Amino acid sequence: MRLKDTVKKEDFKIMAIDDEPDIIASLGLYLNKYDFVGYTNPMEALEVLKTEHFDLLLLDFLMTPLHGDQVVEEIRKFNSSLYILLLTGHKDLAPPLETIKRLDIQGYCEKSSNFDQMILLVESGLKSVSQMRIINDINQKLETAYSDLKNAYRGTVESLRLAVDAKDSYTKNHSDRVALYSKLIGEQIGLPEDEMQTLYDGALFHDIGKIGIPDAILQKPGKLTDDEYDDIKNHPSIGAKIIAPAKIFDPIIPIVKHHHERYDGRGYPSGLKGEDIPLLARIVTVADSFDAMTSDRSYRPRFTLEKALDELENGKGTQFDPDLVDAFLIAFRNNKDYIESEISSKFVTATL
Ligand SMILES: [Fe+2]
Ligand SMILES: [Fe+2]
Repeated sequence: MRLKDTVKKEDFKIMAIDDEPDIIASLGLYLNKYDFVGYTNPMEALEVLKTEHFDLLLLDFLMTPLHGDQVVEEIRKFNSSLYILLLTGHKDLAPPLETIKRLDIQGYCEKSSNFDQMILLVESGLKSVSQMRIINDINQKLETAYSDLKNAYRGTVESLRLAVDAKDSYTKNHSDRVALYSKLIGEQIGLPEDEMQTLYDGALFHDIGKIGIPDAILQKPGKLTDDEYDDIKNHPSIGAKIIAPAKIFDPIIPIVKHHHERYDGRGYPSGLKGEDIPLLARIVTVADSFDAMTSDRSYRPRFTLEKALDELENGKGTQFDPDLVDAFLIAFRNNKDYIESEISSKFVTATL
């Protein structure tokens, strides 16, 4: 039975559950400055709690068919934050402290004729509820502001990435394809989901540092001089510096910085060797090299697919982590049509 006080009161909704209608009626009088609703049937009240928001619940302990602690047990299955005060009769024992703590019941008090103690507990409970509302509101605003900031920064770096990719038609969409191949390797070796996201982002932004390399060097037809090659070799470190100020990019810094290391330790910028090279960077190295080999360059035409795959095979243990080359070769076979269409579409785009 629902006994509803229809006058809209202060901005708090309180529910009481007690199998004695007289108690519900008295509580309604004492709490008439709030939006109050009382139930004598706990099962009916549970259904309402599933769909309606309440700020505080007053709950009789000894009831049929469910005791108060059993009602809380049910509530906690779908609502972990509802503020609950348990009401005990004069001579009733309260549930054990362990139960009260486990069910996150915020307090209990005796039902007495004037309800003074209960009113005090309700008022202090509503103060907590109100403070929680403010905290939640602030957290929500902070989250929104943080997410806006993250998106704005990511957007800026994304523009840089597109600018790098667009610097010349030979590298158009290079980072998208490297991200795609890296993802295939990651899936093949069963990387966990959070690392897959880091891998994908790291692959997308791996060459961001090329924004700091003169176009005359990047687009130079023919062979680079040693000095020019030294300049190019700065792009992983430049990239790491570009993304370092934003904390959101922390996880991908090792990928950006180390995607030109070699498994035999003869790569750059740090000369890391074998498994000292971060795993995700080793993956991107394989993906990056495959895309470089299957792309036309100003100084050489692209390799055939067979030749590119042979080169990966030949580079096992020297340039590449052998296990990751194997993973790529399996992923390649499983996704051959898809990869071939990606590769051929880039030549269509590049000639437009
Ligand atoms: Fe690179
Ligand atoms: Fe690259």
